[in-house]
Amino acid sequence: MFPLQILLAYIVLYLLPSNTKSEFISYNLCENNTAYARGSTFETNLKILFTSLIQNTSKTGFFNDTLGNIPDRVYGSSLCRGDISASNCTNCITTASQNLPQLCPYDRGAIVWYEVCMLRYSNKYFFSDLDVDGYRVDNPQNWSDPYQFEQAVVEMMSAISRAAVQSGKMFSTGMVNLTVSDSIYGLVQCTRDLTGDQCLECLNTSMQILEEYCYGNVLGLYQAHSCMLRYETDKFFNSDPFLIVSAPVRINFPPVKISPPPQATAAPEEPSKGKGKKTVPIALGIGIPFVLSSALAIILLICLQRRKSRNRLEEKNIQELKGRKSLLFEFSTLQEATEHFSDLNKLGEGGFGPVYKGKLLDGQEIAVKRLSKGSDQGLSELMNEVQFLAELQHKNLVRLFGVCMEKEEMLLVYEYIRNKSLDTLIFDDESRRKLNWEERLKIIKGISRGLLYLHQDSAIRIVHRDLKAGNILLDENLNPKISDFGLARLLGGDHTQSKTSKVVGTYGYMAPEYAIHGTVSTKVDVFSFGVLILEIITGRSNSSFSGTSAGNLLNYTWEHWTNGTATELIDPSLGDETWLNDEAVRCINIALLCVQMTPNERPNIFSVNLMLTRKRMQVPPPSSPAFVFGDSGIDDRDFEISDNSTSRSSVKYSNNEVTCTEPYPR
Ligand SMILES: *[C@@H]1O[C@H](CO)[C@@H](O)[C@H](O)[C@H]1NC(C)=O
Ligand SMILES: *[C@@H]1O[C@H](CO)[C@@H](O)[C@H](O)[C@H]1NC(C)=O
Ligand SMILES: *[C@@H]1O[C@H](CO)[C@@H](O)[C@H](O)[C@H]1NC(C)=O
Ligand SMILES: *[C@@H]1O[C@H](CO)[C@@H](O)[C@H](O)[C@H]1NC(C)=O
Ligand SMILES: *[C@@H]1O[C@H](CO)[C@@H](O)[C@H](O)[C@H]1NC(C)=O
Ligand SMILES: *[C@@H]1O[C@H](CO)[C@@H](O)[C@H](O)[C@H]1NC(C)=O
Ligand SMILES: *[C@@H]1O[C@H](CO)[C@@H](O)[C@H](O)[C@H]1NC(C)=O
Repeated sequence: MFPLQILLAYIVLYLLPSNTKSEFISYNLCENNTAYARGSTFETNLKILFTSLIQNTSKTGFFNDTLGNIPDRVYGSSLCRGDISASNCTNCITTASQNLPQLCPYDRGAIVWYEVCMLRYSNKYFFSDLDVDGYRVDNPQNWSDPYQFEQAVVEMMSAISRAAVQSGKMFSTGMVNLTVSDSIYGLVQCTRDLTGDQCLECLNTSMQILEEYCYGNVLGLYQAHSCMLRYETDKFFNSDPFLIVSAPVRINFPPVKISPPPQATAAPEEPSKGKGKKTVPIALGIGIPFVLSSALAIILLICLQRRKSRNRLEEKNIQELKGRKSLLFEFSTLQEATEHFSDLNKLGEGGFGPVYKGKLLDGQEIAVKRLSKGSDQGLSELMNEVQFLAELQHKNLVRLFGVCMEKEEMLLVYEYIRNKSLDTLIFDDESRRKLNWEERLKIIKGISRGLLYLHQDSAIRIVHRDLKAGNILLDENLNPKISDFGLARLLGGDHTQSKTSKVVGTYGYMAPEYAIHGTVSTKVDVFSFGVLILEIITGRSNSSFSGTSAGNLLNYTWEHWTNGTATELIDPSLGDETWLNDEAVRCINIALLCVQMTPNERPNIFSVNLMLTRKRMQVPPPSSPAFVFGDSGIDDRDFEISDNSTSRSSVKYSNNEVTCTEPYPR
């Protein structure tokens, strides 16, 4: 499920001894930045920062502050768990600020976590930055039925994560009943400098990490830089659970051991005695009355669920009918909206036809793509596809509103994005200079999240096949939005097969196995994404290298990489600061992993996303990228894609990466 080897190396493991609820849990990480001197301005700023955090955090449970001027500026933030009192919050932050300078002496960056609070400072700006690095506490005692346990935990944690974001408090608690007498309690919280989406992503990733390492354990805690998540069979927080979640209906009954014969007087509650007990074996030694009553309860639950879901289904059908209708646009409407497809409204010419800007009568701005030729699909089939694609909603995807099919014409109606496409920004000398490193990184991460959604999180798996700078649109806040996804599906491309005779795509971005054999997998998009990252960092398009001695961007990058001159690849207009160079070279490393020749060696987008969001996660060294097509030395075996190439376990890294301390050559 997970790139185990990578995570093992970076997740700090800290086991909480069982039955030590009162024992102080604390953990810290030192950033190992340049040391500050005793009595220096930085130290003074840090002290003032701590005072401010101590005084201000308890009001709302979160505070961030900035003190001093560069180079002695210090950024800090502190978070208290949402269920503790103001005085307990202040106490915890006070303890943290007293201990941290001893835990990481003279370090210009550090973080410490306690059970109910967190304190962090750094000389580097970190607000609004999603950071999933953290540590994990678990209790190796297992629930007797780990599957049941895990399902209930995931159900509850997802529900309270959404509740936390919706409430705006970035904090929520919950409970789910596991059996008649046992419950699981959960708590989630994010730092409030994150957006709702970032918070959900942080909690989701943290939960996946716990699922990987603490499957079925009666206690799980993950504290990241940006969020925390905890569940336990004992109630560990100080308030009533905010959300009570009903346990998922079990399909498989736990194995029930009938012999030895039950005592006639066995009371159903007996198995769970004291409160402090963590494991409650329900499969063993439970009387028949209990089994019967729980079976009855489950049947009742199923019936109730059914009734509920039927109502929901009917409601959904009506909604769908309403929705479907509005997906179909009339030609005259679009003609009017675009002023008869006037050249003045033309936004550009894509691979599939021109795109026009339009405005509907209700004022909604749209972009209309006029495809050159009708599809050979039937209308109902097409509507199905449009319906699917219209349901894909993610902030890093351009929304498809609908379609129009009349008079041999086929038009697609999209949301209108004000800013230009990425290629007009990064390949233009003037505009490129205005894009700083943070903005470029934001664009890279956004594209990776959009791809993650297409490849893994949406209801249907979609391989874009034509990912390139021209297909990335930017809104006014420079949020990237992937456009033209699903076009291959929509236009009747043979998407169910892993091989296609119709190779669509753009030279320079195409993975070799796709260009040569037409083999389609999500790794095709990973390859294109790697090229895109390199273009964003260098500010040079892949095509601008034709005719040069390197021949293409990948070759050029690889030459610098192996010569230890990777920093020379970075767009000079970004400046020459050490931290920037380090981050950019790390991104180049990730990009090189994406463009490796063998699809199975390329990481999947989940791993790429993880490497981009977890700064302290080491990135394995790349092997040489795929070069110009038709290069000698291309072996068909290089193109083999194993069955699980689209699942998360496909990242194959060498074992020695764990001990590799030099992430890239210098
Ligand atoms: C800082 O140095 C310590 C001790 O060498 C090491 O254990 C820790 O992982 C380093 N921290 C980071 C963020 O690299
Ligand atoms: C935070 O606390 C400091 C005292 O250390 C105070 O001067 C400052 O006004 C407070 N800031 C806010 C935003 O309340
Ligand atoms: C505050 O801390 C005390 C002592 O640690 C604890 O007993 C109490 O439950 C806490 N109260 C709240 C509301 O956090
Ligand atoms: C809990 O389960 C895991 C795997 O499912 C196993 O490795 C571990 O030993 C179990 N722990 C206990 C205490 O039974
Ligand atoms: C994480 O998000 C995915 C997609 O949104 C969802 O299917 C999954 O259940 C989530 N996992 C958790 C633990 O919330
Ligand atoms: C869950 O269990 C608790 C205590 O065991 C009980 O008070 C509560 O009513 C139960 N809730 C549901 C929804 O079954
Ligand atoms: C707190 O963080 C936000 C970002 O979420 C930032 O805009 C703001 O400037 C920070 N406040 C201070 C005082 O540094």
